Amino acid sequence: MPSEDALAGKVALITGASRGIGFAIARRLGKMGARVSICGRDQTKLDQSASILRGEGIETLAAPADVAQAHQISALVQKTQQELGPIDILVNNAGTGVFGPFHEFGEADWNAVMDTNLKSVFLACRAVAPEMMRRQTGHIINISSLAGKNTFANGAIYCASKWGLMGLSGSMAEDLRGYGIRVSAICPGSVATEFPGQGHKNPSKILQPDDVAHAVAALATQSPESFISEVHIRPTRKPSRRAPYSISPVFSLLLCVLCVKDFAFGRGKTLTQRTPREHRGRRENHPQTFLLTLVVITSILPT
Ligand SMILES: NC(=O)c1ccc[n+]([C@@H]2O[C@H](COP(=O)([O-])OP(=O)(O)OC[C@H]3O[C@@H](n4cnc5c(N)ncnc54)[C@H](OP(=O)(O)O)[C@@H]3O)[C@@H](O)[C@H]2O)c1
Repeated sequence: MPSEDALAGKVALITGASRGIGFAIARRLGKMGARVSICGRDQTKLDQSASILRGEGIETLAAPADVAQAHQISALVQKTQQELGPIDILVNNAGTGVFGPFHEFGEADWNAVMDTNLKSVFLACRAVAPEMMRRQTGHIINISSLAGKNTFANGAIYCASKWGLMGLSGSMAEDLRGYGIRVSAICPGSVATEFPGQGHKNPSKILQPDDVAHAVAALATQSPESFISEVHIRPTRKPSRRAPYSISPVFSLLLCVLCVKDFAFGRGKTLTQRTPREHRGRRENHPQTFLLTLVVITSILPT
């Protein structure tokens, strides 16, 4: 386990750190002694997050920037170097996604995701590389995703951006290794944040932002001779999607009771003793009743 001050004297720039995974990374590296520079587009949220970090004794620079804009990245890197010193650790974390059938998205959606998830990493790395090369040291950590290793329906644009990021990370690592600079990619599965497209996953079975921060801390504190190039993070217990019909356990239970009641229509009576309603209930509702009961029971069962 890295010591409390393992990063004392280091400067870390973390993009997209006003909330979610980026904020957890900034907090973790800051607690280990690093001075942190954080960015995001929403100034108010960024300032709130910066004051939390400062309140915990972490030296923090908060500079609003849109990482998809080359000139804003250059300004962010320059400001960080001027105010905190040369950047030792760059964490390219800012990201976004759109999820749905690819043919329903337009060029603007493609550009927004690619510019934020892929182009920004090229721009930020290009901005920090000269100083890192001059100092013959540095670590660049790119927050990719398991979507950069797999494909799935409704994820075309996001997957394309993260597969691209894996290729970019691997090639940049080869370009920079000779200078003593490491470029690593972290590929988390689903993490509990405000990221779009989280669906109905069971919150107890998805990763937490701190799990990703832990991996970043481990990479940033490995011995200078070691280079962990890629990390995959999965929840220990496999996540599963809750069926959308499990609106609430109480509602499901009510349905269940109704099904059983329906199935019991006219039970114990002969054909002639049943009312027309009871007769219809028994004759017509068997398959539906069984099916509905099954659906309701599976929706109640814990996932
Ligand atoms: N959550 C997951 O399930 C998951 C899984 C695997 C990988 N990841 C990756 O982890 C990274 C962080 O995701 P998250 O879950 O923490 O998302 P999040 O909660 O939505 O946070 C995203 C952060 O990035 C900032 N950001 C977004 N676009 C930006 C831009 N153009 N310029 C500057 N900052 C920008 C946001 O601030 P503003 O909106 O104020 O700019 C925010 O601080 C992303 O790269 C994502 O692809 C997430």
